[in-house]
Amino acid sequence: MEIDKIFNDAKDFLPILGVDYIEFYVGNAKQSAYFYKNALGFESEAYSGLETGDNSKVSYVVKQDKIRFVLTSSYVEKSEINDHYTKHGDGVKVVAFLVEDSAKSYEETIKRGAKSYIEPIEISDENGIVVKSGIYTYGETVHLFIERKNYNGIFLPGYKEWKNNNSSKPIGLKYVDHIVGNVGWNEMNKWCNFYRDVLGFTQIVSFDDNDISTEYTALMSKVMSNGNGRVKFPINEPAEGLNKSQIEEYLDFYNGPGVQHLALATDDIITTVSEMKNRGIEFLYVPETYYDDLIDRVGHIQEDVELLRENGILIDRDDDGYLLQIFTKPLVDRPTIFFEIIQRRGANSFGKGNFKALFLAIEREQRSRGTL
Ligand code: FE2
Repeated sequence: MEIDKIFNDAKDFLPILGVDYIEFYVGNAKQSAYFYKNALGFESEAYSGLETGDNSKVSYVVKQDKIRFVLTSSYVEKSEINDHYTKHGDGVKVVAFLVEDSAKSYEETIKRGAKSYIEPIEISDENGIVVKSGIYTYGETVHLFIERKNYNGIFLPGYKEWKNNNSSKPIGLKYVDHIVGNVGWNEMNKWCNFYRDVLGFTQIVSFDDNDISTEYTALMSKVMSNGNGRVKFPINEPAEGLNKSQIEEYLDFYNGPGVQHLALATDDIITTVSEMKNRGIEFLYVPETYYDDLIDRVGHIQEDVELLRENGILIDRDDDGYLLQIFTKPLVDRPTIFFEIIQRRGANSFGKGNFKALFLAIEREQRSRGTL
């Protein structure tokens, strides 16, 4: 009994209700917002910039079901945003958590060794009060704790509703399934320990270089999850291979650790992916032979294998069910961040059975970039 209580107390010091938003620092927020709307089916939600009295930066907020992205650029030469952009290119700066109590989340994590990014601060307008605070995670990436239970406005104080005639149609993206970080050589355990000790997460899966290697490249990965399982953070580090690992390529171009991919969930991957393709998104392709022995490998699935083959969608099964997934090519200029589209049919895993086929596809891309 006592042990159960200690376990629950340990897990409950940071209750996270979900991912509130993900903020990208980008070179041109207006055009990034246009891309996310038109290529990925997001809708305009909120805006902050010169017209709302902010002379230093501009942010466009786009939304699709439970996924909210903020695209932010700097108006001024010398700024945290521009320093970030110059060093990393377009990339994820903030993974914001929705919490009940921002100040407590901050205190609990700082007490356990987190490095402060923003001390708790109340921001307000006529629609109420939001409390936000934040800590650093790997690289220059940060987690914000957003408390909005006393706020009724659109997004955050300082933002106005963003209406736009450009009405892109949603493509069925529902929520952020997992957020993957790439960290430096031999740093995976350090950052897994950070999520365990500072945020109270637990490790749910581990992959070593036997699981995730090809002739050329290798990586190690562990998946950390918060207590209620709503937030999952796989952490990758490079491992020794014959040639440069895809993780090293990322670290070189991003100039350090950062978010490697966001997995976005859909209930209908075939429709979502074919719509993305129609809108110009490029995906990694596996050889046609991947589908030859598919049913032998994964057993019966509901989907039409022919449609999966046409769209290059991968399938993997675990003890709980199966999942369908596909990966885009990098979505920014540098070969850094990409997206995964995932549909879960019971499976809670991450597609281990697809790693080999996938990495061979990534190596083909690396070769075309001259970075393998
Ligand atoms: Fe993933």
